[in-house]
Amino acid sequence: MSAATTGAAAANPYLRPPFGPVQGEAEARDLRVIGELPRDLRGVYARNGPNARFQATGAYHWFDGDGMVHAVSFRDGRADYRARYVQSDHFRAETEAGRALWTGLLEPVHTNPRGAPYKDTANTDLVVHDGRMLALWYISGVPVALDPDTLESLGPPGWARDQPFRVSAHAKVCPGTGELLFFDYGPRPPWMRYGVVSRGGRLTHLTEVALPGPRLPHDMAFTERYSVLMDLPVFHRADALAAGRWLIDYHPDLPARFGVLPRHSAGSEIRWFEAEPCYIYHVVNAWEDGDAIEMLACRTTSPLPAPDPADGPLARMMANLRLKARLHRYRFDLRTGQTTEAPVDDLVTEFPAIDQGRAGRPTRHAWLVSVADTPTLCFDGLVKYDLETGRSLTHRFGEGRFGSEAVFVPREGARAEDDGYVLSFVTDARDDTSAVVVLDGQDFEAPPLCTVELPRRVPLGFHACWAPAETA
Ligand SMILES: [Fe+2]
Repeated sequence: MSAATTGAAAANPYLRPPFGPVQGEAEARDLRVIGELPRDLRGVYARNGPNARFQATGAYHWFDGDGMVHAVSFRDGRADYRARYVQSDHFRAETEAGRALWTGLLEPVHTNPRGAPYKDTANTDLVVHDGRMLALWYISGVPVALDPDTLESLGPPGWARDQPFRVSAHAKVCPGTGELLFFDYGPRPPWMRYGVVSRGGRLTHLTEVALPGPRLPHDMAFTERYSVLMDLPVFHRADALAAGRWLIDYHPDLPARFGVLPRHSAGSEIRWFEAEPCYIYHVVNAWEDGDAIEMLACRTTSPLPAPDPADGPLARMMANLRLKARLHRYRFDLRTGQTTEAPVDDLVTEFPAIDQGRAGRPTRHAWLVSVADTPTLCFDGLVKYDLETGRSLTHRFGEGRFGSEAVFVPREGARAEDDGYVLSFVTDARDDTSAVVVLDGQDFEAPPLCTVELPRRVPLGFHACWAPAETA
């Protein structure tokens, strides 16, 4: 039985469209395109997200759903669609059992199997490394390699097999060296590990990073020479953790700390830079500027807002999912150890995309989702930022239409950083249909260059990637 067909769905907006799960895997070829598909758009746009397969045991949190990747591949002037589950080890255990074995974030976890408090769904992020997509999980899990063309789950990449460490959702790929940079965090020591995997898939560096206790970092940043790790004042309540429960508090009396580490150095070499208290889900980009590191990020000072009683028993989840992040600039001075920071804009934006080929180096442009002022987490448009001036342009998807994390794909022979295409899945909450829109990165407020109609709804979800044709 699908979770969407049970009584629980009626009370939980994250089990109903446009969020609720769709039935099973799917494939469709030669999709209908309105407008003209650019001939130089060649590759796969893929997005990960939760798609609960079995009826939940107890209350369902949006983050609990099994990973499903929706992908549209562009080649030879046509577009094909595919959706497949991410077959993590825990997903396969539930397949064998034919039912849910793990309870989710909103329930006690002590009866969950395999000593794993939560089901590792690999439902959060996708990165392209060593010719594969890697599906990653926000609590730190075992990466699942996917064939970028068929989306078939190939198990963990060799470097992550039988390892003591896990990998958080936001591992990064350096476009210059092809290295994968990652961190691991959890409720048991060591509180953080940091590692590097070579372009060819060999683990070349692994080190522990000392923290004052268990922390909940979500993202990291990198430049050509440095990685930036985070110790933010949102963390477990120690007494609850000792009793096997996860309760999270925000401590605005503590600073945010950013640890700068040369890419291949031991964790003991890390230098911490203090900043105003906040939480950061996602970094836009970072780069070196003389003796300083510049970092742009989506920053919130209200990561755990007060629940609204009108939201009923799910009020805490509903409140925590109302992201109120704004673009913020940091500068870490490597000579003085000082941080300077300033807001860039007051629009509520998140889930940033840049030209991945420029990650870790100076960038001028970024495309973020505009977070709608709705009870659930919906993205009603995309905001293109000029990071030098802070100016922005907004592309709205239209009434009742909500998007996904975008990707930017440079045009063939591009002559400017923003000369290319911006892609987003868009789901229409009014009629339960979905499409991919292809926008002009420069003429950003114009109507889409084309709209690719999909055969069924793509539930609103998490992170996306672009796998160029040479990968797929
Ligand atoms: Fe994320």
